[in-house]
Amino acid sequence: MDKFRLTHAAAQKYDKHSVPAMFGPLARATLDKIPLPADAHIIDIACGTGALTREIASRLKGNGRIVGADLNETMTELATQRHPSDAHEAIYVAADVCELPFENAVFDIAFCQQGLQFFPDKSAALAETRRILKKGGKLNLTCWSAISPFNGALSDALSDHVGEAASTKAKAPFSFRDGDVIRELLEGSGFIIEAHQTIVLERRFENLFEQIMALPIEKDLSEAGDLVTSAVVKDVASKLSKYAVGEVFLVPQEAHLFEAQT
Ligand SMILES: C[S@@+](CC[C@H](N)C(=O)[O-])C[C@H]1O[C@@H](n2cnc3c(N)ncnc32)[C@H](O)[C@@H]1O
Repeated sequence: MDKFRLTHAAAQKYDKHSVPAMFGPLARATLDKIPLPADAHIIDIACGTGALTREIASRLKGNGRIVGADLNETMTELATQRHPSDAHEAIYVAADVCELPFENAVFDIAFCQQGLQFFPDKSAALAETRRILKKGGKLNLTCWSAISPFNGALSDALSDHVGEAASTKAKAPFSFRDGDVIRELLEGSGFIIEAHQTIVLERRFENLFEQIMALPIEKDLSEAGDLVTSAVVKDVASKLSKYAVGEVFLVPQEAHLFEAQT
């Protein structure tokens, strides 16, 4: 599988549209369930533009250390710019999850929000995460647990109007959703699973067109042209009509939350 590369423009769109619609709410829902001990050393792996890292920084008490690490420098640069000056300090580093630039056993807690499904070598990623955690350190990991009604509708519309490659791409974030497989992977990497639950959030669509064009399938739609794009947006809106609340759509999206220990 190719590494997940993002341009500056893609990072900006991600941060403007996908973070407020889902990654920010997921970060808050996750941290509402995972209290942070004071002074903890915490790493957010595959931190993106820092949705979860910022939330950690606003909640952590004491003198802990916070690091956000992501493969894409475009994401970590934006995360650094977006980090609030009145929250706990965080350092953002560009690094592959399989080669994290830290000594063994330095972190108390690792988070990984919606990154695992994109790692080409998931066992190596978890082994590396375990290496940098202290003995008894915790990993809190989220991964979508079902294809959301939005992405299902988008994938169907792309299949009808654009083609199968674009249709498959729309479902890529949900490609690794089997909880038993994730459990086996964690246990196979030496983690002890302490808890597994499902988080359900409402993904908010204020502007369906803009939010669709902020996704990686933007390229396929731009190549297909305006008429095809309008047809796709119209089909998605029609399939989501039961989730319409006035001018916005509030669409459920669910994730696994695994709490594991080294
Ligand atoms: C769906 S985003 C989630 C980002 C962030 N956790 C959030 O909640 O907004 C997936 C992230 O995984 C990162 N990623 C993909 N492959 C990676 C790898 N091999 N090592 C580190 N990060 C990776 C991408 O750059 C992207 O920022």
